[in-house]
Order: sequence, then C-alpha cells, then structure tokens
Amino acid sequence: MANARPPALDTPFEIGGVTVPNRLYRAPLLECAGNGPGAVDALVAELEPAAAAGAGLVCQGATIVRPEGGCAAPGMTRVHDPEFVAELERLTDAIHAHGGKIAVQLEHGGLRSMETWHREFRRANPDLHQLAVSEPPFVLRALDGAGLLSYDPHVLSTSEVYDLAADFGRSAAMAVDAGYDLIHLAGANMGIVHQFLSPFYNRRDDEFGDGARFLELVREEIGDRAGDVPVMTKVPAETDAPPFVRRRLSADDCVRLCERLDAAGYDALVPVSGSVFWDMSIVRGEFPARSWRDERFREGYAAAFGSRPRAALVALANWVESLGYGFDPAWNEALCRRVRERVDVPVLCEGGVRDGATIDRLLGDACDAVGMGRPFYAEPRLPARLLDRATGSGAAARDGTGGSGDATDGQVAVACENCNNCVVPQAAGEAGVCRTPAVLGRVGERRAADEYDRPDGSD
Ligand SMILES: Cc1cc2nc3c(=O)[nH]c(=O)nc-3n(C[C@H](O)[C@H](O)[C@H](O)COP(=O)(O)O)c2cc1C
Ligand code: SF4
Repeated sequence: MANARPPALDTPFEIGGVTVPNRLYRAPLLECAGNGPGAVDALVAELEPAAAAGAGLVCQGATIVRPEGGCAAPGMTRVHDPEFVAELERLTDAIHAHGGKIAVQLEHGGLRSMETWHREFRRANPDLHQLAVSEPPFVLRALDGAGLLSYDPHVLSTSEVYDLAADFGRSAAMAVDAGYDLIHLAGANMGIVHQFLSPFYNRRDDEFGDGARFLELVREEIGDRAGDVPVMTKVPAETDAPPFVRRRLSADDCVRLCERLDAAGYDALVPVSGSVFWDMSIVRGEFPARSWRDERFREGYAAAFGSRPRAALVALANWVESLGYGFDPAWNEALCRRVRERVDVPVLCEGGVRDGATIDRLLGDACDAVGMGRPFYAEPRLPARLLDRATGSGAAARDGTGGSGDATDGQVAVACENCNNCVVPQAAGEAGVCRTPAVLGRVGERRAADEYDRPDGSD
C-alpha cells in the first residue's frame, strides 16, 4: 500500500465542525492582560499579530471562570463577568478579520493558585482559600510546614464540584456570544482540572474520585449552556516525577483518558507530558539566569516570594529543576502519536516544536496540527515565516536560504532559544515578552528583511 502523503502545514482541518484554515496554532500563553480598562486592547495587541501573520488557530492563555481566587499567576484575565466577556468581541473580530480562529482557554488554578505561593497576594487576601479536589498531598503539606508554600485549602463538596463545572459552562456560553470559535480547557499544567485527573492530587471518595468524570461533567455543562461549540482540552501524562511520588498518570493512563474524552464528546485533544508539580517540565529549556539577576525585577520577586533571600532560594530550586528539564525537541511527539492511533478526533501537538523538518515529521503521523508557545513571544508574527516556507512564497523562501540565521538544511527554524527569560519575570507581575537581546536582535534583522510580511501584503 502506498504511504499517504502527510498533510502540509498550510492545509485546513476541522475541529468539531469548525474549519481551521491551516495546521499551525499559537499555544495558550499568559498575556498578563488582566481585566482592567486596557485589557481588551492588550489582548488584541498580543494576539492579533499571530493571526495577521497566518496562524490558523490562536489559543488565548488561560482565563479564570470565577470572580476571585484561582489565578496561577499575576495579571490573568477572568471570564466570569458578562459585561467584560462581551467586550472581547473586539478581540475575536480582530482575529476573524485575518481569517483565523480563536479559542478561549478556561481554567481555575486550585492548589496551584497565587493564594498558595504569592506572599504579597496572600497577605492582601487573607480570607481566600485554595479550592482543592482533596487535601493537599503529603509533599505539598511538608512544603507548607517548611514555610515555602501556604496552604489553607477548601476541599470541594460534591455539590460544589457541580457548581464549578457550571461556572465553566457559563463562561463558555459568554465566550461563544463574544465570537470565540472554540473552547479550550486548561486540563494540564497542574490547574484544578489536572488535579481532578491526577491520582497524586485526587483522593476523593465520591463520583469525582474518577477524575475524568469532572471533565465529562464540564463537557455536558458546556454543551447545555453554550450549544454545539467545539471543545478541546489538554490531557496530562505525569511521566516525570521523583520516586516518592507513588501515584501518578502514566502515558498509558493518558492514552486511556484521551479515548474516554473522545467518547465523551471532546472535539480535539492536546496530550502533554510533565510532572505532578508545577515546575519546568512544561517549559523545558535553560535556567533563566539573566531574568533572575535583573535588578528591575528584584523587588517584584521579593514581594512574590516573601523576601530577597527567599526569592534566592526559589531561584536555586529553579536551577536544580533546569538540570532535569533541559530542552527536549518535540517532547510530546511519542505521546501524541500513541493517542492519535486510538482516537478519532484531531490531536494537537505542542512543546519544543522548533523547525520545519520537525513540523513535517509530526504532521506525518503524530498529530493533525502543531503549536508553539514561547516562540510566539520572540516572534509574534512567526507564522509568516513558517507558512511561507510551506507555500514557498515568503521572503525567507524566496531567497532559498530559509531566512537569516535559520537551520543549515534550509528548513525554517524559530528564533526562540528556550532560555526561559520570558517566564520567571511573570511571577513579579511583568509582561510575557522575549527578554533575550541576542534573540531580539535577530528578530529585528528578520523584520528589516521583510521576513514577517505575508506575500499577499496582509499586515
Ligand atoms: C509563560 C508561559 C505561560 C503559559 N501559559 C499557559 C496557559 O495559560 N495555558 C496552557 O495550557 N499552557 C500554558 N503554557 C504552556 C504552553 O502552552 C506550551 O505548552 C509550552 O510553552 C510548551 O511549548 P513551547 O516549547 O513551544 O513553548 C505556558 C507557557 C509559558 C512559557
Ligand atoms: S526569552 Fe525569548 S528566547 Fe528565551 S525562551 Fe523566552 S521567547 Fe524564547
């Protein structure tokens, strides 16, 4: 039997009846736009360039479904308020004007929220409790005992789990009214959905002791309240964990979960591997020495972590983590391939995807679309270079080199160097932007060489 040709990056595909014009998406990344007067403008400024440069799907960073608590980091946007969500129509219009689709990602941080780790926030909100699936596991309680984290959890009763699922449904309905094409759930990265799925966090003895039941309920709530909008979710595999973590989601568990979510009506799945902790396993790369050293952020780190010495301790822990989570190209590839063999819905792959050759391989059999996160901080108009390589029409492709400073085989590669200097300052309330001068310099050269212009003249 002849091998079927893999679909090209610039060919459309469907998620739950919505046609996405190509297979390149911006993965959810925090925009730090908040909900203040400039929030919608900030979101448009952050997300429109990706669509203007051709991204088929733009996934907005996680947004919180409740009016208070639940934010994993400063500046997250909340989507509980109909008046505010209605204003987001300006954002969805801006994306649609370029032919792209946009997903809102719904989230609640649970035990990962700022009320656990951000000292200043905790002091300002002494009555806020973390929503918890179960009492925190022993290791986290030990960190609390050592004064490094601060737990004061409220374990959800069965009826409160139903209320939380309804909040996801209500926010989804508002988002659909505001023009979003898809609903994305923050099912991984240690938020509350992940905490339901994970045997490390979930020790419940009601129906939600089966964590997938929560995702099934959320799918029902969204269907009931928001109609037939497609719903996608990240699905975690907790493949990296220290030996004392006895219960975790294996890759096999993740594949089984994906089969179940397919059957439950999820329209696309994003399998991602990481650890049971909130650590560098989701942003594999270098220790961000430059951003820890940067004097401009020191006060912000001290406020977040309690003092300068405590911030130095967190930096040390971050350095230790970086030894275990160095950059690993396309680190979810094998997991996505396994899932794709078992489900009928599209599988989306992200995490360390960095060049054209890898994209071609992934689209061969591991997934239906490829996403990138940090590279969009470095190059907000990145799709122009990657897609024009696919059609052979952009500036990078026209001169036959793949563009300035690209991979030597002529394949286009991203500018991002996985140094993570964009990540840590967000703990201090700073914007998520590329903060590495050499990379920014290279991006500037590419801009000057018109490599981010689309051949059709769109801007
Ligand atoms: C600063 C930052 C914020 C992120 N925020 C989210 C988020 O809100 N929701 C989510 O599902 N993933 C989030 N991620 C994970 C990304 O979607 C992506 O999976 C990850 O960065 C790996 O892809 P990359 O190697 O292309 O950056 C975030 C990653 C970074 C670096
Ligand atoms: S600071 Fe820039 S180069 Fe470094 S990971 Fe972030 S976007 Fe990439």
